[in-house]
Amino acid sequence: MIFEELRIRHVRVSPAQILAPMAGITDTVFRRLIKRLGGCGLIMSEFISGEGLLRQNIRTRRYLYYTEEERPIGAQIFGADPEHLAEAARRIEGLGFDLIDLNLGCPAKKVTKCGGSGLLRDLPLLDKILRRIRAAVSIPFTVKMRSGWSDEEIVAVPVARLAEDCGVDAVAVHPRTRLQGFSGKARWEIIQEVKAAVRIPVIGNGDVLTPADARALYQQTGCDAVMIGRAAASNPWIFQQMEDFFGGGTYRESTETERYALIRTYYGYDAPQK
Ligand SMILES: Cc1cc2nc3c(=O)[nH]c(=O)nc-3n(C[C@H](O)[C@H](O)[C@H](O)COP(=O)(O)O)c2cc1C
Repeated sequence: MIFEELRIRHVRVSPAQILAPMAGITDTVFRRLIKRLGGCGLIMSEFISGEGLLRQNIRTRRYLYYTEEERPIGAQIFGADPEHLAEAARRIEGLGFDLIDLNLGCPAKKVTKCGGSGLLRDLPLLDKILRRIRAAVSIPFTVKMRSGWSDEEIVAVPVARLAEDCGVDAVAVHPRTRLQGFSGKARWEIIQEVKAAVRIPVIGNGDVLTPADARALYQQTGCDAVMIGRAAASNPWIFQQMEDFFGGGTYRESTETERYALIRTYYGYDAPQK
């Protein structure tokens, strides 16, 4: 079956269908909702500033909150200072997260100045950061990247190779450039190139809107897992629909009653106040 299971070291991701980190969306309440609906083998936090984490500011503490039912759960950090990121990673491990992910994709200007997709233009610094984080933690360590800064600077394959050399356990690829933002299409052929270039698991991401898209992504790229972002925000049933589709060839759409019940559940969950 497609995307049945993936192991990122000792962490079992089953099915190999992952909720993408989305700032402002994938908070603890949304993540619990996704888990309850089924079909999602791994969820990720919103991205968390490594610097904010060290300062322990209130917003960061809220980002770090999770419940046991969300496991396995990864925390995503961003930043550009190797020592600070290593210390942030240590703290995340101490908080019991199952894995840690480094953001190499955020296109926002205030982030690219100090990490995110900005690191795709400074591979020597990225090398240092990856090695420091790797040495700091024993939980699995992954990276999630865009394909490069611009069409003239596509670096997905060299970055994936660098990550593998530095002991990173898996790499997620959203094949759009920083300059592209969310326009145009995700270039899945870049995921295919990364898959051919490294031995560590490759997680394919970008423009998967339906179970049929997920199958097409697998067929084109051979990726080891699929990661879904925006489609999960408007259709949180998509993970279960993919599982049904891959297992039995069909799936059903949610009914109005189910959607109504889901909203009630959503507002019924308690979230940390600080
Ligand atoms: C509102 C929003 C917030 C996002 N926040 C993050 C983030 O915090 N970290 C990250 O790595 N990617 C972030 N992304 C990118 C997604 O994880 C994903 O790579 C992208 O949306 C492409 O996948 P999709 O086509 O399935 O949505 C965000 C995307 C959206 C739409």
